Amino acid sequence: MEIIIQPDPGTAGALAAKIVARIIKDKPDAVVGFPTGATPLEFYRNLVRMHREEGLDFSRVTTFNLDEFVGLPPDHPGSYHVYMDKHLFGHVNVGRDRIHIPDGLAADIPATCRRYEEEIRTAGGIDVQILGIGVDGHIGFNEPTSSLGSRTRIKTLTRQTRRENAAEFGGKDNVPYHVLTMGIGTILESRLILLLAFGAKKAPIIAQTVEGPVTALIPASALQHHPRTILILDEEAAGALTKADYYRYVYEHKPDWQKY
Ligand code: GLP
Repeated sequence: MEIIIQPDPGTAGALAAKIVARIIKDKPDAVVGFPTGATPLEFYRNLVRMHREEGLDFSRVTTFNLDEFVGLPPDHPGSYHVYMDKHLFGHVNVGRDRIHIPDGLAADIPATCRRYEEEIRTAGGIDVQILGIGVDGHIGFNEPTSSLGSRTRIKTLTRQTRRENAAEFGGKDNVPYHVLTMGIGTILESRLILLLAFGAKKAPIIAQTVEGPVTALIPASALQHHPRTILILDEEAAGALTKADYYRYVYEHKPDWQKY
């Protein structure tokens, strides 16, 4: 894992956007996996700005979102369809037919999950997957004890995750119990993974993810098995890492050809 510690969420989001923009410039038909939550907002703002000011072209990009709530119509304010339109898709030239978000209203959930996996395969696999992380270590909505080999499927949210999502639903009682999420096995097949985490609240789980054992109790720890994962953290989220000095030193001494 490569650990990059930035001064604040603004610089961290800008760096993540720069890395993704470079991939899209090098491969205009890149396949990009997108997350939701508060963490990637600065990243999305930067992508929109690069589209407007620098002509970053999304016309041939294919996208796959990590997850969606079950039972919400796509125009529900808490749905990730609405989130993505609001923060990215409504502001860039991505083709509507190239956007993929799990269908939380599907009548046949196992079939829709199988199709999602097939669509990722048919698109050629995900070139870069951006991730946030829950305070319990979930990535996508793979809650603790998710199989580290799991594929896209239905999951039940923990009480804690439902509470964390209460604001978007006007109270925790309105948060759906079920979600569709890419599996950990699905995520691990992405060629490059960028995980973003900001704030002191994420510091303990980041330390366990990077420096603890690989365990299904901390789903993000499975990323230790991935050959190209970059964690972009702010100072606060990096606050509990015992080897933070080493990660800073590695970043400062990157060979020129490896710099972002
Ligand atoms: C939700 C999303 C995750 C996200 C997590 C953290 O559970 N499904 O993809 O990483 O929230 O959210 P935040 O970035 O708001 O802390």
